[in-house]
Amino acid sequence: MSDLLTIQNIRKTFPGVVALDDVSFSVKRGEIHTLLGENGAGKSTLMNVLTGLYHPDKGRISIAGEQVHFTSPRDSLARGIGMVHQHFMLVPAHSVFENILLALDQVPNLFNRKTYKAKIQTLINEFSLDLNLDAPVWKLSIGAQQWIELIKLLMRDCQLLILDEPTAVLTPQEADRLFSVLRRLKDRGKSIIFISHKMREVMDISDRVTILKKGRSIDTLSRGHFDESLLASLMIGRDKIPQWQKNLQMSDEIVLDIQNLSVRNDRGLADLDSFSLQLKKGEILGIAGVAGNGQKALAEVLTGLKNASQGRIMARNEDITNSNARYSYIAGIAHIPEDRKTIGIAPDMSVDENLIMKSFKSGSFRNWIFQNKKAIRRNAEEKIEQFAIKTGPDGTPVRYLSGGNIQKVIIARELSEHPSVLVALYPTRGLDIGSAEYVHKVIADGADRGMSTILIAEDLDELLKLSDRIAVMFRGKLIGYVDPRQTTREEIGLMMSGEVSGAVA
Ligand SMILES: Nc1ncnc2c1ncn2[C@@H]1O[C@H](COP(=O)(O)OP(=O)(O)O)[C@@H](O)[C@H]1O
Ligand SMILES: [Mg+2]
Repeated sequence: MSDLLTIQNIRKTFPGVVALDDVSFSVKRGEIHTLLGENGAGKSTLMNVLTGLYHPDKGRISIAGEQVHFTSPRDSLARGIGMVHQHFMLVPAHSVFENILLALDQVPNLFNRKTYKAKIQTLINEFSLDLNLDAPVWKLSIGAQQWIELIKLLMRDCQLLILDEPTAVLTPQEADRLFSVLRRLKDRGKSIIFISHKMREVMDISDRVTILKKGRSIDTLSRGHFDESLLASLMIGRDKIPQWQKNLQMSDEIVLDIQNLSVRNDRGLADLDSFSLQLKKGEILGIAGVAGNGQKALAEVLTGLKNASQGRIMARNEDITNSNARYSYIAGIAHIPEDRKTIGIAPDMSVDENLIMKSFKSGSFRNWIFQNKKAIRRNAEEKIEQFAIKTGPDGTPVRYLSGGNIQKVIIARELSEHPSVLVALYPTRGLDIGSAEYVHKVIADGADRGMSTILIAEDLDELLKLSDRIAVMFRGKLIGYVDPRQTTREEIGLMMSGEVSGAVA
């Protein structure tokens, strides 16, 4: 096997950020090459450099030994490199067929449309894809939309296919189907760059793995020379991971009873559709589901960011659906988006100030109408120590902290009033493993003290590890509950696709 692609010493900076420092690796013909790295390691940036979306500051890219300079994705496509992006680029109202035609180099005319259609249908059959060419795209599952993106690239005869975190939006079954298609493509001599940070998949599919860490390529390993723990240690380094134990006894006391709750979105559609859920005292209730099935609306309605159009939220026999009591009873943390501006922090205010935003009313940080600076500082020192927050000098605006440390600030603040219920929406998304483990530990410790948590996450391993029970959501409804000690990934996967319902425990 010869090298199809060589990447040498690539560097790419953005204002204030070195996204890629010094990256080198190569891809052979007919191999599945995985790029493994934590969020923010530079994987997407590297692929955007490779496909000509970004210009590197330094380094060289060669195809079949010849150096290339791409100035746009059009250039890289012309050389047989195509990418399935994390966000698809499809026209929802058009049919599958029309969407594929739009991506072709030559626009087919009335006379050869049929030939194209037959050609596409042959590809669909060849790879046993479940796709109807005449269906409008908006009716399709995310998995099917991904097939369209793949077919677009195959129709252009790409030799190197790049899939950037393709399984993030898939059920486990859909992911398995994708993997079997990728293997068949490889057997036909195609090269594939597969991007993921899910260890199980990486072990399953990769011929070789290149580990990216903080913008540097750490190593490339061939199948047979890596296992999960080696990859994990290369990916995260030797950061200490805190240990904790799962709480095994749980009371039957219901602390939150969600009854037939519906939430409409801006388009008048139901994000939550007669959703019912019961949360027990001291329980960590995991919510599984493919992203976009109402999880965000659930978190928002529970934490008071949205109003319900129907149904009730009961806390110990008190109706808190649209009352202020909800704020003190239920606290929330949500994931830190990359731009770090849209959620739970005041980015320009200091860590100290952010830590007391929730306790403002209680008066302990005020002398008459003035802030009690000393008390605020003492509180901050305590929280910084307790939650191991790495912050800059006193007064540092919170936006300068890393994602993991911002998340700790939010958690410290949310837990400061000892809420009965914590709603965590993708709380570890985008965090390094050490910070993610810290978040897990805080949730588990809270459970030991009787706090109940609704943990909404997309990583099944995370849910299986932490949850006492797992509820599965599909299209705004609760499909059922499973016991993480009894269930299988397959069972949860089927429930996530709405095909079967679980035992209602
Ligand atoms: N357009 C951009 N402008 C500024 N910074 C960016 C841009 N794109 C990516 N970054 C930064 O570059 C780093 C690598 O990001 P990315 O390539 O998306 O990582 P990954 O795909 O491995 O999660 C991150 O720190 C990210 O915030
Ligand atoms: Mg990425």
